[in-house]
Order: sequence, then C-alpha cells, then structure tokens
Amino acid sequence: MKHCLFAVILSLSVFTSGAHARPLEAIKKSGKLIAATEGQFPPFNFFKGTKLSGFEIDLAEMLAKKMGVALEWKTLPFDSLLIGLAQDRYDLVIASHGVTPERQRAVLFTKPHYCTGGVAVGKGKAPSKASLKGFTVGVQVGTSYVTELQKEHLFKQLKTFPKDTDAVQSLMAGKVDAWVSDRFVALEAVSKNAALEIGELVFTERVAIAVALGNAGLADGLNAALDFVKSDGSYVKLSNQYFKTDVSCGR
Ligand code: ARG
Repeated sequence: MKHCLFAVILSLSVFTSGAHARPLEAIKKSGKLIAATEGQFPPFNFFKGTKLSGFEIDLAEMLAKKMGVALEWKTLPFDSLLIGLAQDRYDLVIASHGVTPERQRAVLFTKPHYCTGGVAVGKGKAPSKASLKGFTVGVQVGTSYVTELQKEHLFKQLKTFPKDTDAVQSLMAGKVDAWVSDRFVALEAVSKNAALEIGELVFTERVAIAVALGNAGLADGLNAALDFVKSDGSYVKLSNQYFKTDVSCGR
C-alpha cells in the first residue's frame, strides 16, 4: 500500500512538472470552469436519474456563478480524480477529498468547504471503533478511510471497493462486518435502509476542493467565492437543505 501511494505521488509529480494548469485569468477569459467529481457519493455528489446532483454540485455552481463563469462537469472514478487534475484535464476536483499531508504533496487544496468525520456502520448493530479490530471492514479504494484505518490497524481484514456504494451493498449482503464512510453519507444510507446502524466516529477530517499544484490564483478565486457565499447566507441555506445543519468548518 505504501509503495502504491508512493507510485501515485511520483506519477503525479512527473505529470505536474510538464503541465500547464489554467490560471484564473485564462478560465475567466474562456468563460468556463471545468470541474470533475465522482457522482457516486450521496448526498455530496451523485446522480439523481441522469442529473448530477448533490451538495458539492450545488456549491460548485454557486462558486462559479460568483466568479462569473459557467461550469462544465466531468465525472470519473474516485481514484483517478486527482491524477487527471495533475494532467490538466480539468481545473478543479470537488469530490469530498479530505485534506491530508499525502494529498497536499500532489495537489493544492482550497479552504475546507465542509468539516466531517469517518464513522463505522454495521448491519443490525452499531460498531464501536475498537470492535473494528475484529472485523472485516469495507471501504472505498483511495479514500482517507483506508489510510486512517491502516494507521491504527482498525480491522481484521480490509476490503476495498471501487465505489463507496459497493461497500454498503457488501455490508447488506453480509460479506463485510462493517463499513467505514463519511458520517453524512452514512446518515443518508441509513435513511434509505433501516437495517444499517451508525456506530462510533473513527476520525475527523476537513474536506476541500483540489486544484493543480501551484495554481494559487484559482485557489484564491475559489476561496474568495467561498467566503462570499458563507457571508451572504447562501452556504448555510444550502447546507441546511441537505443536512439540516451547518456543515462548514466555521469562518
Ligand atoms: N472523505 C473521504 C476521503 O477523503 C472520502 C471521499 C470519497 N469521495 C467520493 N466522491 N467517493 O477520501
């Protein structure tokens, strides 16, 4: 796993050196910001029928509007999102990436757009953090959940899935004993499936938008827009709409 991560970082830095991330001026001139997400992580980014929806989709639309540009979406598997960013296939990634030192070596993060944590979810029984040590735990590949669980060896066996929703299905089918995911994603899953029970918080994280390493102009532009939607009340309104609470990390 460590080797794998190293290889990813290495390949990202190789791509970064020859890349030309679009500065804010170029984006404004073209009139269009190109954003990438996964579309499989409800209620943050998901497909409602064929329509890309979710808190992060609406928030990005809000930020683009404030910046005076249109927004074009691309959807990719979660574990290829940051790699495509380093290859300049789009300007930003908004897909619930927790800010971690490993990722900060490969991309530049904006200020966090929400604060959250990873929780343990069980079927019929809410798992404690300590109980994970005796369990087969299911998580989405490439996520901070994998790294955090490995840090404290919080599993008997760790099973990774391409999509977070595959991990839920595996829990429902009794193929894993617990699923670790975002606390708000877990709440959404429980609302759709009464057999699921949310247990203890495993760790907390700050989630941010990623831009290409060195693209400080774009990060500043996004930060200013984020500050604005927080100060004029539209962020809180959107947050309440999805979560009935303010998920921001504060001002
Ligand atoms: N917050 C977790 C992380 O930083 C999970 C993100 C998963 N996002 C998604 N679109 N599936 O890795």
